Amino acid sequence: MKIFSGSTNKPLAEKIAKLLKKPLGQIEIHLFPDGEKRVRVMEKVLGEDSTVVQSTSTNADINYMELFFILDALKRSGSKSVTVVIPYLGYQRQDHVFRQGEAVSMGVIIKILEVVGVDKLITFDLHSSRIPELFSIPILHLSALPIFAKTIKEKHWDDGKTLIVSPDMGGVRRVKILCRLLKNMPYMAIEKNRDLKSGKISMEEIKTVTKNRAIIVDDMISTGATIVKAADLLRRKGAREIFVFATHAVFAGRAEKLLQESLVKQVFVTDTIDVPKDKYFTKLYVLSVAEMIAENL
Ligand code: R5P
Repeated sequence: MKIFSGSTNKPLAEKIAKLLKKPLGQIEIHLFPDGEKRVRVMEKVLGEDSTVVQSTSTNADINYMELFFILDALKRSGSKSVTVVIPYLGYQRQDHVFRQGEAVSMGVIIKILEVVGVDKLITFDLHSSRIPELFSIPILHLSALPIFAKTIKEKHWDDGKTLIVSPDMGGVRRVKILCRLLKNMPYMAIEKNRDLKSGKISMEEIKTVTKNRAIIVDDMISTGATIVKAADLLRRKGAREIFVFATHAVFAGRAEKLLQESLVKQVFVTDTIDVPKDKYFTKLYVLSVAEMIAENL
């Protein structure tokens, strides 16, 4: 098997390659002055099984385009099969029509991946558990929740003083799974509303938090607004220490500043998205999903 990386998450691809004791395959990605890219696979892949790692976070359009070209180059060069690891699957929040007249952007991306000739997809913590049903090719939907459970145990936060919190109703399934991994730790969900036009978030009142510690668990942090709002609410209702575990560090806008200045003590994310140096902040801890991916290749 040969492993290749697009340009969005080389550190993760390198970790996976190291765990599998393989070098990263050489790819030339040339950027033209007008922004177009030319992709060339520099290895012999004829008859080989190939794997490509590419996160499709900001800028999703550019990163998907680059991935499509890598996949096309591998197929044209005679690769027997191509597994694509998209740890963060961009456009996943647009998986159905919310309001009449909208595009199903996730569906469009899936069609292209299938047409380009992907044989199998590996991804993490999808926003909706129904997304895999949109694919015709096999998809391995992995989760960072076991990594979160392990970290929570290592920190001894499974000491009976913790409440696991989903910052929206859509995340209840996620926190239930995590709590099961933590000997049925108690959980609650906040009712969050988002204005589809303005993006503004509001949260319904919750009852008093009787545990000292609250751990907010989410699939992704984008602008950070959800976490900041949930933390404010939890503190007002009695939580003294607040931690966050989220799989995907999308970190759009000024998320890193909002999180650093928030009531949250520590923010744990994974490396499904490579956090650029200028987005790091002192409360941030990055856990790796590399081992989980390597085990499944
Ligand atoms: C929403 O349903 C997701 O699970 C996240 O809570 C959301 O995408 C986070 O967005 P933001 O950080 O912009 O509030």
